[in-house]
Amino acid sequence: MTGFLRNCWYMAGWSNEVGDAGLVREILGQRLFLYRLESGAPAAILDRCPHRFAPLSLGTREGDLVVCGYHGLKFGPDGRCVHNPFGQKIPAGTTIPAFAAAERHDAIWLWGGDPAQADEGLIPDFAFIPDTPQQRSVRGYTLMKANYEYGTDNLMDLSHIEWVHKGSFAGDGVIFAGQHSVRQDGDTLHSDWWMPNIKPPMVAQGLVPEGQTVDHWLRMRWNAPASMRLDVGACPHGRDEAEGFDIPQAHILTPASAHETHYFWTASRNHDLASVEADQYMLDLFRQAFDVEDKPMIEAAYANVRGNLDAGGDFWAERPVSLGIDQGGTRARRLLESLIAREAAAHG
Ligand code: FES
Ligand SMILES: [Fe+2]
Repeated sequence: MTGFLRNCWYMAGWSNEVGDAGLVREILGQRLFLYRLESGAPAAILDRCPHRFAPLSLGTREGDLVVCGYHGLKFGPDGRCVHNPFGQKIPAGTTIPAFAAAERHDAIWLWGGDPAQADEGLIPDFAFIPDTPQQRSVRGYTLMKANYEYGTDNLMDLSHIEWVHKGSFAGDGVIFAGQHSVRQDGDTLHSDWWMPNIKPPMVAQGLVPEGQTVDHWLRMRWNAPASMRLDVGACPHGRDEAEGFDIPQAHILTPASAHETHYFWTASRNHDLASVEADQYMLDLFRQAFDVEDKPMIEAAYANVRGNLDAGGDFWAERPVSLGIDQGGTRARRLLESLIAREAAAHG
């Protein structure tokens, strides 16, 4: 198993998850404490005091400092110990790992590598997540017991919709009539489905009069490590896309460890913006799709290879069969591997 890409942004949580008490979350195999500075800006440090390993999240806050609740060492948001209550001297090795953190798109993001290289401009564009007068999103989170790249496989290959999502999104086999294409633009990948002249799928009900057909698209954008945007759209067949709708979703995967993944998702709508019932309908639909349908399949598939991975193997050693439709996931795996290799080479 290759290591994680370090110099990139990982979504750590929703903004509203990091309140006064902070948030403890395992990311990249480390238990982290996320909290807010007096300015409101997010900070992230290892949730482990170097003295006797107490979780710093069990301590208290003094301004921007975190005070260990066990014997009182105090740490700054850069991880440096700034106060030892038992003497002036601060022993060597008292600094703890700290991560650059940023808040954007109603989410907290964490830079996995050298904080000096963190550039907020590299956070993928999810500007559609915060509500606007035209659009509202519902949000969800689930912890998946599988490596995050197996989640990427699932999202970059939406052909599984017809099989896995019989209780939610399946659409009378329309995806089989679709054209699939994968393209790379810099370090961004796109895995797109185009389904012209089909009976309106569930999401496009009411777009055209009874008996008419629509052009339907599903467009997935991928950025390392596994931050994806899906556009679901349709328009009357043969017409300009602008005559239909295009609604974005976020599917953002962050490794908790090599074997567990935080799955953050959103689903937007452009109608009934103030409707609590519409919120609930969407939450129920998407929880059905992700928690009840996707998650057990991905976890079960991953459990089938986990033993070999633990023994030192990797995805490719399992000799996965290619069906063509899976090239989105394959390209994402290859691109991530090359980014990790590039990073390793840069660090000698
Ligand atoms: S464990 Fe933190 S000061 Fe002792
Ligand atoms: Fe799915």
